[in-house]
Amino acid sequence: MALVTTKKMFEAAYKNHYAVGAFNVNNMEITQGIMEAIAEEKAPLILQISKGAREYASIGYLKAIIDVAVSENPDIPISMHLDHGDTFELCKQCVDDGFTSVMIDASSKPFDENVKLTKKVVEYAHDHGVVVEAELGQLGGIEEHVQGVDDVSKHLTDPDQVVEFVGKTGCDSLAVACGTSHGAYKFKSASTLAFNVIEDVEKKLPNFPLVMHGSSSVLKEFKDLINKYGGKMPDAMGVPEDAITKASKMAICKVNIDTDLRMALTAKIRQVFAEKPGEFDPRKYLGPGREAIKQMVKHKLNILGCAGKAGECR
Ligand code: G3H
Ligand code: 13P
Ligand code: ZN
Repeated sequence: MALVTTKKMFEAAYKNHYAVGAFNVNNMEITQGIMEAIAEEKAPLILQISKGAREYASIGYLKAIIDVAVSENPDIPISMHLDHGDTFELCKQCVDDGFTSVMIDASSKPFDENVKLTKKVVEYAHDHGVVVEAELGQLGGIEEHVQGVDDVSKHLTDPDQVVEFVGKTGCDSLAVACGTSHGAYKFKSASTLAFNVIEDVEKKLPNFPLVMHGSSSVLKEFKDLINKYGGKMPDAMGVPEDAITKASKMAICKVNIDTDLRMALTAKIRQVFAEKPGEFDPRKYLGPGREAIKQMVKHKLNILGCAGKAGECR
């Protein structure tokens, strides 16, 4: 089947209490690792591309890689999504490039400006059959105005704003800030997710799909390998997987994962270089990285509960 929007995926995920994995892709090996996992687990899939990924790989190459993934997996519903679009122009370009879903992240702007920009993107995207994810509240990490882990809790989504926001913008899904942040350093000690924010938003917006960003778990296996083989990430900490499962059973229908992919690839490359200092064939270190991504994604699909659900999302 051709690329699809997230509409049916989210309907099924909401109804049947799981979440669809949204994995960031930057190159061929990352995409292949994800696709091998998806093919074996028969899960619906969102492949997401950031502005940085567009610039790094060039969208033509990424789109061609994803087109191959789609044609080789005709039974799997796959959506191609813009992650953290920051301008109307970028969102429009992605719609024109064949994305089936875009995120406009105007969450750093005042409420009225967020509404205005989101609405403009929604109008253009909907005219072209593309769905839109918006964001209310702010996460740490890449949203630079949120300074560090301590500041995250001050920027949670205000459930009292969501009905007005969704009503005025017409967005199709909403990213909520519930205590997660981007990157590998999400918490200083114990994790503190605000499940009450998810619950309260769900009460205000029944049947509306929510999105959780910053959802990598910083898996011990990869953190340990990185630290063992010359890396330095001793304080890295992610969202515990039982919290991801809990959120996936609530109104969270899309879970964003990038850091765990990066750490899997980095860990394996470091291991190969440490164990075989003479290795200079990229296939010999990217290959193990791709395999690690595959195994990690297979595991995640079960944490999210979307393994085996491809059929009901078509
Ligand atoms: O949310 C951020 C994603 O991890 C993408 O990161 O902008 O460095 O590609 P990036
Ligand atoms: P992580 O950094 O936790 O993987 O989050 C990725 C993300 O939210 C992409 O939008
Ligand atoms: Zn994000």
